Amino acid sequence: MQALRNRFRSWSSDVTLDNKTVIITGANTGIGKHAATDLAKRGARIIMACRDMEKANEALKEVIEASGNQNVVTCRLDLADTKSIREFAEKINNEEKQVNILINNAGVMVCPYGKTADGFEMQIGVNHMGHFLLTYLLLDLIKSSAPARIITVSSMAHKWGTINLEDINSEKSYDKRKAYSQSKLANILFTRSLAKRLEGTGVTTYALHPGVVQTDLWRHLSKPEQAVMWMARPFTKTSVQGAQTTIYCAVAPELDTESGRYYSDCAPANCSQAALDDDMAQRLWELSCKMLSIEWE
Ligand SMILES: NC(=O)c1ccc[n+]([C@@H]2O[C@H](COP(=O)([O-])OP(=O)(O)OC[C@H]3O[C@@H](n4cnc5c(N)ncnc54)[C@H](OP(=O)(O)O)[C@@H]3O)[C@@H](O)[C@H]2O)c1
Repeated sequence: MQALRNRFRSWSSDVTLDNKTVIITGANTGIGKHAATDLAKRGARIIMACRDMEKANEALKEVIEASGNQNVVTCRLDLADTKSIREFAEKINNEEKQVNILINNAGVMVCPYGKTADGFEMQIGVNHMGHFLLTYLLLDLIKSSAPARIITVSSMAHKWGTINLEDINSEKSYDKRKAYSQSKLANILFTRSLAKRLEGTGVTTYALHPGVVQTDLWRHLSKPEQAVMWMARPFTKTSVQGAQTTIYCAVAPELDTESGRYYSDCAPANCSQAALDDDMAQRLWELSCKMLSIEWE
């Protein structure tokens, strides 16, 4: 099994991040936790933004022990609640002097129909709206920390997605897979739109597919689906492997001059035609602002 897994393109870099600050959402497990560990090893201050503080503090101990970096902290962030996002951003804006890398990593996949505290369908609400608002609220601090990067973890599942502007919350009909794909397509459209708005600021943006990775993300799959995924393990990535493209987007010097693109396996990758639709990206941007009651030109 290890031999099969070793075939994933490996990438390594000795870039250090001394005196840099990184925020990672959903850093208590899976891809986020391994990205946190790697970036902590490079010397960055790491802020693990998590919704469950018990899990977060357990993970914090592991990240500190594995990295040898004591400058790692946790901070509560529930992306399913705009009040929590605003409280988190206020704390960061008041207490941190810089944010050099924001990693919008947290996500939920194919969950039963549910709504966030603000009435958004859970997958579009957490995966897209939550990160959209978080980025908006931290943007001045990120800009003042330039050069800086904003990374959003999408998925190849975006290729099956469309944005349903008329029913973005899937209130008329809910297909859990379509809702996940929609949210992951929204991640890429957001990254493209953001890159345009940030031209000339020294802040660059990246979207990525981490691979098919064995993590807790699959918790909402049915038992037979989980059995299939278990059997497919030799063809999937470990969490450490799954974190590599995120780390690449966060530190690779060759990406300094790129912005708004999509990556997979530590390299630029092709996204769907729908993910290149700038008109849709703009309409999604406007709808997101309206739903979040923010003004962001
Ligand atoms: N695994 C894959 O095969 C795969 C493939 C493509 C893309 N991705 C993407 O990779 C990213 C990371 O996923 P993963 O595979 O590492 O999954 P994971 O192990 O389930 O981690 C997801 C993280 O998101 C957090 N989260 C969920 N809802 C949240 C909320 N409302 N507020 C704050 N945090 C929340 C989770 O917190 P709790 O632990 O408290 O639930 C967890 O820390 C996701 O964006 C996912 O869509 C994963």
